[in-house]
Order: sequence, then structure tokens, then C-alpha cells
Amino acid sequence: MNVMERTNHNLRINADRLWASLLDMARIGGTAGGGSNRQALTEEDARGRLLFKQWCEASGCTVSVDKLGSMFARRDGLADLPPVLVGSHLDTQPTGGKFDGVLGVLAGLELIRTLNEAGLCTRRPIEIVNWTNEEGCRFAPAMLASAAFTGELSEQAVLDTRDAAGLRFGDELTRMGLDCSTPLGGRSIAAYVELHIEQGPILEAENLDVGFVTIGQGHRWYDILLNGFESHTGSTPMNHRRDALLGAAHLIEAVNVIGKNHAPEGVASVASMRVMPNSRNVIAGEVLLSIDVRHPVQARLDEMDRDVRAAYAACLKSAGLTGTIIDISNCPPVPFDSNVLDIIREEAGHLGLKGRDIVSGAGHDAFHLARIAPTAMIFTPCRDGISHNEAEDITQEWATNGANLLLRTVLRLANEI
Ligand code: GLV
Ligand code: MN
Ligand code: MN
Repeated sequence: MNVMERTNHNLRINADRLWASLLDMARIGGTAGGGSNRQALTEEDARGRLLFKQWCEASGCTVSVDKLGSMFARRDGLADLPPVLVGSHLDTQPTGGKFDGVLGVLAGLELIRTLNEAGLCTRRPIEIVNWTNEEGCRFAPAMLASAAFTGELSEQAVLDTRDAAGLRFGDELTRMGLDCSTPLGGRSIAAYVELHIEQGPILEAENLDVGFVTIGQGHRWYDILLNGFESHTGSTPMNHRRDALLGAAHLIEAVNVIGKNHAPEGVASVASMRVMPNSRNVIAGEVLLSIDVRHPVQARLDEMDRDVRAAYAACLKSAGLTGTIIDISNCPPVPFDSNVLDIIREEAGHLGLKGRDIVSGAGHDAFHLARIAPTAMIFTPCRDGISHNEAEDITQEWATNGANLLLRTVLRLANEI
């Protein structure tokens, strides 16, 4: 094997092989609407992980799994140095698309297949990671395992997290039958690069090939429990009601106004709700709903937090309710590493790719990794900006460009830093 020469700009990934792998993975948990449903620690997640492991082992990697199920596929380097880490996640939303997360993991695999074929080795080891439970739809908050990898959350807290059905993360992980024997985190990472679809409309609209993600916007997530009083819809006079669903309606409206007041950078959403007892002729006694607010500027995110708390207090008053507000996630805006970004921009130039700096609207495991290692993200365009939807789509060319840029960036990092 030869050490990669700095000036070798001719190496390219195999576009058809990457695309075929993306579509093979998408069939696991494939939905009628053309997307994927591989929620964290489900049967489908287990099948996706097995396929990934088989692919990695067939490419000569050693696969280890940490205490929270995150998978690391390692290709040794010439020197026993901290690795360059690339990857993302294979879990999806319930009505997820084929590419959110999957592109970053499988582009990592593709770059290793490409190096193998070219007979090239690198100075540093390269590892591909599949983080457990990035999405946060089954176990909240999102990015649980990467948060624990970097010490932001404790291993035990993650293991004790429960899904909406009351099932414990740790028990569901055990049920997957993985050998989760690798200690969590606690090791040095030379750099982390995550390739991801943009999940927004900017790159496609500007006819660009790639985005250089300079900042990940911050977010705050809350669970809100509203308590009213169950009573008969036919016989309870309007002025005698304590209707938890009416309070929820006031709050949903107010959260939308908060988002509009902080637009265009800020966004605010209520996207999930459970009504008890959810019977058409019983006034709702209890509602559990989630709030998600995001902004790239910390001071504005703090304002949004104050606005959410005021809206919550106002809805209790207007509907005569009691309640509880629970902080589920508090993730500050994250600036990415300027040196890694410079390498990405330079390599995009060598590849003839047109790109721009961009802010990440979605959350990513890279946000946590940025605390412990030089970290950056590369975005590819995404059809009409649609994501978290079965219709999420990208072109083969977009995937190929992103994966080639990842390859070139990782080679620089693995040989030069
Ligand atoms: C993760 O997908 C998030 O940004 O919510
Ligand atoms: Mn993702
Ligand atoms: Mn997602």
C-alpha cells in the first residue's frame, strides 16, 4: 500500500456503489410512501445495523459497539494515532426519508471501499460511526448517544431514558443482542466530519453542489403537561370547564407566534401531542405536548425560552389549568472548526464543486463532537428542502459530490494533521 500523496486529486468514490448501498439500506424498514422507518433500537434498526456491520467487515474494518450501541468501524492507519472520525446515523423518523443520516454513514463506508480498491493507506486510522438514536423521535432528546460519548450526559441517564410506551433505552438495547462492550467515549478524536443532506431548500435553490456548515443552530425542547378536569361534553356548561385541550390550543397558537416573531432565523413548533382520555364526549383532563424552538444566536434563543415560559403560564391562566414544564433538551448554537472548514472549502475547489457557507437548521451529532474534537459538517442539496418526510429525495450526483468531498477532506485530515 502507498501512503496517499497530498497532491493526488484524481481519486473518486464509486458513485453507483454508493447509490446502491443507500437504496439497499432504505429497503430495511422501507415504507409504502417510499421512505424508511428504522427508529432507534427497533427490529428494523437491528437489521440496518447488521447490514452495515457486514459491509464494514467485508471492507476489512474492525467493528466495535460502545455501551450505548454506537457502532465504530475502524480502518487502521500507518501510525497508532487518534482517528479521523466520519459518520452520522442510520436511525430514522417514523415516516423518515432514505438519506437523513444514512448518507453520512454510507459515504464513510464508500470512502473506505475506495481507499481499499486504490490500495492506499493513511497515516491516521479512519473510523466510521453510526450514532445510536440521533433522531430523538423514540427516545428524547435527540443525539443521546453522542451527547454521552462527549460527556454531556451520563451513560446511566441515557440507559434509563424511556420511550412513549415506557420502554427503557437500556432494555431495548439489550434486546438488540449487540456486544456493547466498548467503553463510552474517553478517547481522543483527531477530527470529526459529518456529511448530511441540508434538509432545507437553500443549496438547491442557489444551484450549488455543497454547503460548508459554519454554525449549528441552537435549540430548546420542552415537554408540557397540562392538567384540566375530565367531565361530560354535553352537560358541563361552558363556564364550568377546565379543558386541557383548549389550553393546548392557546399554547400551540402562541408558540407559532413566537416563531414568527423571531423569523426568519428563529423557528418554533408544537409537533406532537397526547390527549387523555381522547374521547369525543369527555373534556380533556390532560394533554402532553412537545415544544421545539431553535435559533442560531444564543441571546435570541434565550428570548424565545422566556417567551415559551410566558406563553405556558398564560395558557394555564386562560383555561384554568395546572401544569408542568419539563426541559428535555438545551443545546446552544455550535460554531464549527475553522481549520477543518478551510480544508473542506479548499478540497471543494479542487473538485470543482460550487459551495457556500450555511447554518444547520437541524440538530446533528456533530454538535456534541465539536466539544471534544475539531469538527465540521458538509451539506448536500436536498430536493425542495423536504426532510423528515418519506418524500425526502436527493440526486445521485448530489450524493456523489458530497461523498467525494468527504473523501478528499478525510484524506487531508488523516495524512496531514
Ligand atoms: C434531528 O433530526 C433534529 O434536528 O431534530
Ligand atoms: Mn440527521
Ligand atoms: Mn433527522
